[in-house]
Parts: sequence; C-alpha cells; structure tokens
Amino acid sequence: MPLKRLKSPPARSPFAPSWEIPLYLEKLDDAGLLAAIRETVLAREAELKRKIPARPIAGIADGLTSRWHGFNIFTWPEPPMRAFHDFVRGSYRAYLAALGVPRQRVFVQGWANVVRGGEKFAPHCHDQSPYAYLSGNFTVACTDTQTIYFPPFLYQGAPRIDRSVPVRNEPGLMTLFPSTILHETSVHTDGTERITLAFDVFLQDYDLGGRQGQGGMHIVLDDPAVMA
Ligand SMILES: [Fe+2]
Repeated sequence: MPLKRLKSPPARSPFAPSWEIPLYLEKLDDAGLLAAIRETVLAREAELKRKIPARPIAGIADGLTSRWHGFNIFTWPEPPMRAFHDFVRGSYRAYLAALGVPRQRVFVQGWANVVRGGEKFAPHCHDQSPYAYLSGNFTVACTDTQTIYFPPFLYQGAPRIDRSVPVRNEPGLMTLFPSTILHETSVHTDGTERITLAFDVFLQDYDLGGRQGQGGMHIVLDDPAVMA
C-alpha cells in the first residue's frame, strides 16, 4: 500500500501530543525514463544557473535548488518531463483517493535539484501557513542517501534524529507529503550527481502563504471540472 501513516504513540494524557501524517510513496519503475529525465535536467542546468539569480535555501547556496523560484519543471515540453507530469498527477489523485479527500483545482510548481559531493539539505519545510497543502519529491538518480522526515511536537530546540522517519532515496521513488512537515536529507558523499525533482501543490495560482514564487508560473495540475 503506497499510503504510509506516521502516527504519534497513543496519548496517555489529555494534553499529550496527538498527530497523524500521511505520506504517499510510489515507485516509477522505468530506467529508460529516469535516464531521459536525468539528461533533460543536466542539459538545462547551465542555462538556468546563468539566467536565474540564486537565493540560498535549506543550506544550499548555489545550483538549481537555489533557483527554484525562477523555473517550473512542469512547463518543460520534453517528452520525459510530460511523462513525469502525468505520473505526478496520477499519484496525487491516488493519494487523495486513499485519504478520502475530494479533488479540487490545484496548481503545481516544481524544480530540479542536482547535488554533488558533500552537500545536504538542511532541515526545512515548504509551508506552515493556513494555506499549506502538499509537496513532493522524486529521486531521479542517487546512490545511498535518505530523506528524513520529522514528526511535529517532538523537538527540543532542534530536530531530533532519534524521532525521525528516514526514507531511503531510490531511483524512481516519489514521496508526497503535507507541505508542513520538516524534512532534511543525509549528506551526499560520492562524486556522482544526486538528481531529484521537487514540487509544491497549491490551492491557488499564487502563493497566499508567502512563499517566494513568480506570478503566473504555477500551472494547473488537476481540475475535476475539466479533467476526467
Ligand atoms: Fe524540501
């Protein structure tokens, strides 16, 4: 079952923390498609870096990650990216269906991350505003790294690794998660590129929650009024 529910231990007091976080994990088993996505990202990397000013984020000062605000992989016309777009839409709908959440008109903005030796993403979350919805990440190429999720209510000034939930990054694995969740990655240690795609799904075509983004760059991911 792709749905994985992270749950707090049973509360023993009326004031004890109680939470449940649904993750959705789905694998795209298509080595040829992953290779084609990798080539597409690497072919675009230099131009994106040249055109978009960097805004350091999550401990990453340079590279595509710090240009996340200036492009949207869901607008890329290359066939492998269109296939990825369809995969995301299908997984998103399945995630909602598994949770019994109705579909509605949503928008998506996504970026690529190319991480080379010694880098990691520091703990961050994508949105904790009242408008927070869903985010996702997809591993295109990697060796041995993890994305580490931190449940709420369990911090003592800093994320506690002993309370965290690690998910091993495997090529083709996508994780959908509520945008509110704090997460980080382990350090990428070898010389190969760790390539991932990440995205946010919004209920608006602009960001009411205050995240940076450019007007009009978000595009519709799903709309039950016009899509079957
Ligand atoms: Fe993230």
